[in-house]
Amino acid sequence: MTILIKNANEVITLKDHVQGPRTKEQMRDIAIVENGSVLIEDNRIVAVGAFEQLVVDFPDFIKNAELVDAAGKVVMPGLVDCHTHLVHGGTREQEFNMRLNGSTYMEIMNAGGGIHATTKRTRETSFEQLYKKTMQHLDVFLKHGVTTVEAKSGYGLDWETEKKQLEVAKKLQETHSVDVVSTFMGAHAVPRDYKGHEDDFVELVIQEMLPKVAELELAEFNDVFCEKGVFTPEQSRRILEAGKARGLTPKIHADEIEPYKGAELAAEVGAISAEHLLVASDEGIQQMAEAGTIAVLLPGTAFFLRAPFARGRLMIDEGVPVAISTDFNPGSSPTMSLPFIMNLACMHMGMTLEEVLTATTINAAYAINRGAQIGSLEADKQADVILLDVANYKQLQYFYGMNHTNTVIKNGRIVVQ
Ligand code: NIG
Ligand code: FE
Repeated sequence: MTILIKNANEVITLKDHVQGPRTKEQMRDIAIVENGSVLIEDNRIVAVGAFEQLVVDFPDFIKNAELVDAAGKVVMPGLVDCHTHLVHGGTREQEFNMRLNGSTYMEIMNAGGGIHATTKRTRETSFEQLYKKTMQHLDVFLKHGVTTVEAKSGYGLDWETEKKQLEVAKKLQETHSVDVVSTFMGAHAVPRDYKGHEDDFVELVIQEMLPKVAELELAEFNDVFCEKGVFTPEQSRRILEAGKARGLTPKIHADEIEPYKGAELAAEVGAISAEHLLVASDEGIQQMAEAGTIAVLLPGTAFFLRAPFARGRLMIDEGVPVAISTDFNPGSSPTMSLPFIMNLACMHMGMTLEEVLTATTINAAYAINRGAQIGSLEADKQADVILLDVANYKQLQYFYGMNHTNTVIKNGRIVVQ
């Protein structure tokens, strides 16, 4: 099938000028084509440019193309949400209310709520129920313009349930139009019955879970919650190195609540990304810049936990490639709206409109090792394209708190209209 998107006010191409994630001023170069067209054949982009030029260059394609009129609209790559805890049982609105009444996130978790509460619910929920619920969530992501989602396990903390979560993600990758990229996060919390002998759980993750994840090819990435009272930097290093030895790329929840040298650890182990970084140290940020570690910033979590925002502006200025994501999960960030998170990044992390677009497309794609396939509109890339009901990209954040998604084309098929 051939599709020609025509007459767009602006096509935000984010065309590659460099291989790899964008840093510093590259993050502001979103490569706009005004009054532009995008030609799609099957699941690939054939060309992006002026309609008159495409007619000359590709007359045969254009004769048979289905026309999509983008007059008055902005066209851009499908959004990439590179950090979510997508598959989980239950909700935790009662904890939200407790936090509004003065409890802290870690207090609730240490009292058996938080991740432990969701672990209980996820263990109790059947594969079919989880699949159905997550399918509905993916529909909401898609309606907000998100065409690829990373999904972490970590609400099982036993092999059976971790496997169930990863298999739900795998089945959704096969059946839902949103692409789902899996991360194993067995080290998301220490189960309560391992209290006092936490290292035994670390060994369980390393000796039993990781080998099975690798053998069954259930995930590409291996993540750990490196946080005071959860996993120490030393335990985190062991878990990430063990994953590396099995072919899983390290990611790390770092410096989210207390400074714990998580950013430094990410740089040291060669993690593809460090996530959260609300209280990352100056030194950690420097080391990430030198190592090229992508900072995946999650301002929805700071917003919802009423915590200080990560220093996104400083990180970009220091040369760290920055991506932004929802962190969608039932505790610290229960939103499926990446557009809302983009707004928070502008308002609370000092990022520019252009940087935020880079951070949710090409840099987010690189954070899940998909930079060569998605995240920009260029010939030969996967045809993941969205049409937005705004006259120019600046209006995306100006008209805030709204969903501007008009049409979603995923893999060359119109899936939202
Ligand atoms: O990224 N910090 C750890 N994990 C999640 C929250 C998980 C939960 O509260 O259920 C996060 O914020
Ligand atoms: Fe997270």
